[in-house]
Amino acid sequence: MMTTNLISQQYQMQLQIKPGQSIQGTYQTPADKSISHRALIFGAIAAGNTVIDNLLVSDDVERTQQALQALGIQIETRQHQTVVHGLAGFNFQPQHSLTRLNLGNSGTTARLLMGLLAKQPHTIQLSGDLSLNQRPMARVISPLTTMGMRAEYLADHGMLPLQILPTTQLRGIKYTLPVASAQLKSALILGALQADAPSHFRQPAVSRDHTEKMLWQFGGCSNLHVEGNLLTVSPLQRPLQAQHVVVPGDPSSAAFLISAALLLPGSQLLVENQSLNETRTGFLRLVQQLAPQAIEVSVSRDDTAGEPRGDILVKHAHQQLPAFQINGRLLGCLIDEIPILSLLATQCQGTTIIREATELRYKETDRLHVITTELTKLGAIIREQPDGLIIEGPTKLHASDDEATVSAHADHRIAMMLVIAAILSGQHFSIEGLDSIAISNPTFITDLQQLLRVESQWDQL
Ligand code: S3P
Repeated sequence: MMTTNLISQQYQMQLQIKPGQSIQGTYQTPADKSISHRALIFGAIAAGNTVIDNLLVSDDVERTQQALQALGIQIETRQHQTVVHGLAGFNFQPQHSLTRLNLGNSGTTARLLMGLLAKQPHTIQLSGDLSLNQRPMARVISPLTTMGMRAEYLADHGMLPLQILPTTQLRGIKYTLPVASAQLKSALILGALQADAPSHFRQPAVSRDHTEKMLWQFGGCSNLHVEGNLLTVSPLQRPLQAQHVVVPGDPSSAAFLISAALLLPGSQLLVENQSLNETRTGFLRLVQQLAPQAIEVSVSRDDTAGEPRGDILVKHAHQQLPAFQINGRLLGCLIDEIPILSLLATQCQGTTIIREATELRYKETDRLHVITTELTKLGAIIREQPDGLIIEGPTKLHASDDEATVSAHADHRIAMMLVIAAILSGQHFSIEGLDSIAISNPTFITDLQQLLRVESQWDQL
């Protein structure tokens, strides 16, 4: 029996893992975070009441909900449904003359709100936690400013906190995005819908397309034309229409348990109702290539919003998984899965190369650096590169006596990666900073306990 000590700010839990522990059962993946943010935002500007089934309950999504409420949007929660009373436009009515929005850790909230609020008669301040205040915002503010938005950085240039100043007009622009970022693309689409002429955006590579799909679902078919990597956005002439949005499971959350099931002998996991949107299935396609006989995907529902969903049956891989390569073209479809893929690579035979992934340095932490530091403490062989990682495998993960404590650095995806690493290692060690898991996946530990069939409880520190 080994004990992993999970430590958050106020609680700790001793997770007892037996040798030969497997993952078994059915997993209802928590709702998709990206789609949840967007459902609230589109609901806010549509005409009528948007009903959202299965909205993710997590810190990040609550930030979007609270920000919209502070801007005068009424949002009600009724059992498993959330109802957003739309404005039929962008005429937000904040409760105060100067609105201060605290966006916590949520980069998606910050960046999407910049586009949403680009043309307002109000002054709106945006700030975040320590991590969010260090993430790059100029990539969004700069093209929006070219469109006519007015913004002022309140501390460091290019970072939060900043304030959006009153503006009455936005111009259409032609712009090539410097990074394949869905957050940037979405902010630009939201801004361009309020401009006085069409905008043309070129993205360097594919990134998740939930904003595009949701705009079409809400009736904006004629406002967005996509041809390859070129997007043309025409201003809204009439309000979008409220919709019923059913949020599927989040592939980025499912990836942690899929990886554990692949690697732990005797495992069999049915992941239900996961999003199979092809801009999000990079991880799934990759692991299917590594272990084709271990993964079965069945598309169960393809809803009108164009967000396909389905079930995934994962079994222990039985054979040694080979090393793999990830480059910039694939990155956009699995960007949030890099932490768990790095852990997986430590168990694969050969040299895994992840490159053209500098964007990982601008996530909740510098993930290239933090993955290297924390997994190295567990015996992994990882070389950090300026734009990626080189990982040699397979290595037996172990906690050496003097480095028996690893840290999530307040990054939810690093925290979940480390919990899976602990289970794979079969060794005693402690993981600090687990509070951050609530940002995207508050039920992760309880779901994991159920699937591992272990019983332990959080104790007050
Ligand atoms: C997100 C886009 C991605 C992703 C983030 C959520 C979104 O960020 O990493 O977790 O909802 O648009 P970038 O668009 O900056 O790559």
